[in-house]
Amino acid sequence: MDNVTVVQHPLVQHKLSIMRDKNTSTASFRRLLREISLLLCYEVTRDLELTAVSIETPMEEMQAPVLKGKKLVFASILRAGNGLLEGMLDLVPSARVAHVGLYRDHETLEAIEYYYKAPGDLSDRLVIAVDPMLATANSATAAIEKLKQSGAKDIRFLCLLAAPEGIENFRKRLPDVPIYTAAIDSHLNEKGYIVPGLGDAGDRMYGTK
Ligand code: PRP
Ligand code: URA
Repeated sequence: MDNVTVVQHPLVQHKLSIMRDKNTSTASFRRLLREISLLLCYEVTRDLELTAVSIETPMEEMQAPVLKGKKLVFASILRAGNGLLEGMLDLVPSARVAHVGLYRDHETLEAIEYYYKAPGDLSDRLVIAVDPMLATANSATAAIEKLKQSGAKDIRFLCLLAAPEGIENFRKRLPDVPIYTAAIDSHLNEKGYIVPGLGDAGDRMYGTK
């Protein structure tokens, strides 16, 4: 699929299978999501540009590679995005964070915004929007369109599971935004849930239902 990277790493696939299992506890689900987010973060940042700085090791001076440009921004789509965010911040502690609060209307499946807070200077930073689930893509596209309105230009979207219908909708609305996911599932059911999926990510993370 166009501009979609499926992260095939065996550890990602193994952990995802445990998360999908309906008998996996809330505590294990949260821990696995945090662990997977480290591996996904590694993939989504794989091609970041480096620059050389002069440092002194105990042995001699050298030109050492460090990340080029301004600090990254991780944009968490609430609630479930926070499960990915935590692990990503473990790996990139200096990243700035945006929060986009959205929930899906259960009848229309449209995304309803209830909160938005982002760093002021998005225009010259790489923004990585995160949400475990890309179902209809109404939430991810609403969040990213909001980030674009705030000035973001260089954006990537990272999720755990995507539905083919969601990828198609996302592509139509945001042709320039790369998608990273651990799996593309079969389809959406009549209620807009990913099949086989893992159920409601927020509920499974926080034990709500
Ligand atoms: C879930 C999920 C995504 C959205 C995906 O959130 O975390 O944000 O659904 O569905 P979509 O692609 O069809 O928009 P939900 O609306 O259940 O809110 P929550 O995270 O607060 O539980
Ligand atoms: N949101 C979820 O949490 N799960 C789905 O399968 C679809 C949307």
